[in-house]
Amino acid sequence: MQLKIYKDHGSSSDAAASEIIELVKNKPNAILCMASGETPRLTCKLLVEKAIAQKVDLRHITFIGLDEWVGIPPENDGSCYHFFHTEIFKPLNFSADQVHLFDALSGNLEEECLKMDATIFEKGTIDLMIVGIGMNGHIGFNEPGVSFNNYSHVIDLDEITISGGQKYFKTPATLKRGITIGLKHLQESKKVLLMANGTKKAGVIKKTVQGEITNEFPASIMQTHTNGFVMIDEEAATLLDHKK
Ligand code: F6R
Repeated sequence: MQLKIYKDHGSSSDAAASEIIELVKNKPNAILCMASGETPRLTCKLLVEKAIAQKVDLRHITFIGLDEWVGIPPENDGSCYHFFHTEIFKPLNFSADQVHLFDALSGNLEEECLKMDATIFEKGTIDLMIVGIGMNGHIGFNEPGVSFNNYSHVIDLDEITISGGQKYFKTPATLKRGITIGLKHLQESKKVLLMANGTKKAGVIKKTVQGEITNEFPASIMQTHTNGFVMIDEEAATLLDHKK
């Protein structure tokens, strides 16, 4: 794992967007897996701008959504589906068959997980995974205590995720379970970028980069990835012992 500290969130988002652009230039049918949320929003905006300016066509990639709130419909603007649709799919004219998002309303969530795993295995390995980090160290909805060896799965959400997740919704949402890509997929991804910004993330970044590797703090798995990059701004780096 490598730590990359950028001056500000704009610079790290620009670097992440460029990573995607370069990947697609080299491999038009790449597999990209991304988190939604506040952290990658600027990356998405810059990705759209760069794709249009550089005439890079992303319509041959396979897009995998990292996770979804169980029971939240896609039209709810707090859903991960809504985020990707607004930030990426619509502006870049993605087609329905290139995107693979969990159906969080499915009556058979286990089957949703198997379907997602089958898609990933059929298409090959995930080329690039871009994730954020929760205030409890979660990645996707891989909550504290999760196995590092899970592929896609359904999980009871941690209290911190339930309360923190309300920020995405206009009216209070009932959040109980999540459906998520597992950390085994992260380990098997060719490249992983974990992004974080702001002083509020400084504590979890310290644990991610310099803490014990433990499933009680899922993001610590980043330390084991040989092509993993923790991309943060200076504010998120303020608690690190030795800044690199
Ligand atoms: C969302 C996701 C979550 C977020 C994390 C950080 O799809 O996978 O794990 O990445 O909760 O959220 P933000 O970026 O809103 O601080």
